Amino acid sequence: MNSVIELVKHRVSCPKLAGVVPSDEELNEIFACAVRAPDHARLKPWHFHVVRGQAREKLGELFVRAAQSNGVSIEDKLIKCRNMPLRAPLLVVAVCEPTINPKVPAQEQVLAVGAAIQNMQIAISSLGYGSIWRTGDMAESQVVKDAFGLSEQGSIVGFVYIGQPVKKPVLQTPDVNAYVSEWGAEF
Ligand SMILES: Cc1cc2nc3c(=O)[nH]c(=O)nc-3n(C[C@H](O)[C@H](O)[C@H](O)COP(=O)(O)O)c2cc1C
Repeated sequence: MNSVIELVKHRVSCPKLAGVVPSDEELNEIFACAVRAPDHARLKPWHFHVVRGQAREKLGELFVRAAQSNGVSIEDKLIKCRNMPLRAPLLVVAVCEPTINPKVPAQEQVLAVGAAIQNMQIAISSLGYGSIWRTGDMAESQVVKDAFGLSEQGSIVGFVYIGQPVKKPVLQTPDVNAYVSEWGAEF
């Protein structure tokens, strides 16, 4: 079987990540794959923020402020927010800043950024690293969006956590036939 198909079929999310991260050269390759995502009218609605080292602690502080602005005051929950970015040694915050275009609605531009994230995840696996795409309350928070310089139309499409898998992730192999059917054959 073709090796790309094997790679994609075996891509799996890794919730626990640590250790060595992609080098700058490898990150360049990963982003080169990201920006080859299908993108209606080639508007390039994406931007990728790399967060690593101590910047993760700053992101944790930002998450605490974001949670507090959402009315969270329970200490345990705030500690959880502070530690979120420490779940991997490197994160990429993938954002969408849509351009107003008569043919390309903003939703399609978000989809393009989603496709870019998927390309990244495939590239990350091919280089032997693990990753997981996360969103949640922090992706919706205005405090977080402001810190990443997003406009009112902008959005955080994903926090991509990257590193080496701490334990072997569980690969699910769905029954493909449950999701595929032939349309039009009965007419
Ligand atoms: C848009 C989007 C947002 C997601 N947000 C989260 C999240 O916040 N937390 C989480 O644990 N998984 C999240 N996931 C799911 C994981 O990235 C992953 O796909 C899922 O755990 C299934 O694992 P698999 O990719 O190995 O099949 C999200 C996936 C997508 C596409």
